[in-house]
Amino acid sequence: MIVAIDGPAGAGKGTLARRLAQRFNLAYLDTGALYRAVGVRVLEMGAEPSDPASAAHAARTLDLTSLDSPRLRDEDAGEAASQVAAIPEVRAALLDFQRDFAKNPPSPCTGAVLDGRDIGTVVCPHAELKLYITASAEERARRRTLELQEKGFDVIQERVLADILGRDERDRDRSTAPLAMAGDAIVLDTTEMDADMVFDRAVVLFRSRAEQFAE
Ligand code: DC
Repeated sequence: MIVAIDGPAGAGKGTLARRLAQRFNLAYLDTGALYRAVGVRVLEMGAEPSDPASAAHAARTLDLTSLDSPRLRDEDAGEAASQVAAIPEVRAALLDFQRDFAKNPPSPCTGAVLDGRDIGTVVCPHAELKLYITASAEERARRRTLELQEKGFDVIQERVLADILGRDERDRDRSTAPLAMAGDAIVLDTTEMDADMVFDRAVVLFRSRAEQFAE
């Protein structure tokens, strides 16, 4: 069983994906981390994330073993990721890895959950369950501000909101694999839901799909 979770930055995709993976013995791939790793690599090379040649080189030679490095969560990594993600050669270089992960999840997992922007539309168009997780930009900025403040960063919500709106625009407006809802995705607007409510709803949806596919 493959679960595809898409949606804009800060809507709660990662939290949900991790919890579903744990509950149903699925392998989890945070595909944003792939783009973040490419972005960080380009920054480390001293190049511009918007430069197609540098970004494509970084994507093709990426070390896929350090996707949980805390460095990838930094703000500049997210910003660089959003820029490299708009480059078609970068997306092409990362596609096989993502598809392979979904089809052959590491043992002993019996399926996979991937979260990102184009999982239900491009990476896994045949996923058994597709969720589109969204929330208002203001609420996403509020959550992100709290998260950053808890980590000890001195941030203001208006600035975080401006970053989120900029990222949304870039993710939606790029020509290759933009953030888009698959026609058969189920939308969960989490603006007024906490993480437990989102998880409970997704568990019900997962079980019902699993039963359907077992028939
Ligand atoms: O989900 P995130 O913030 O970690 O993603 C970082 C950036 O990577 C985001 O701006 C969009 C991009 N991304 C993408 O284009 N496609 C994906 N499947 C995942 C992330």
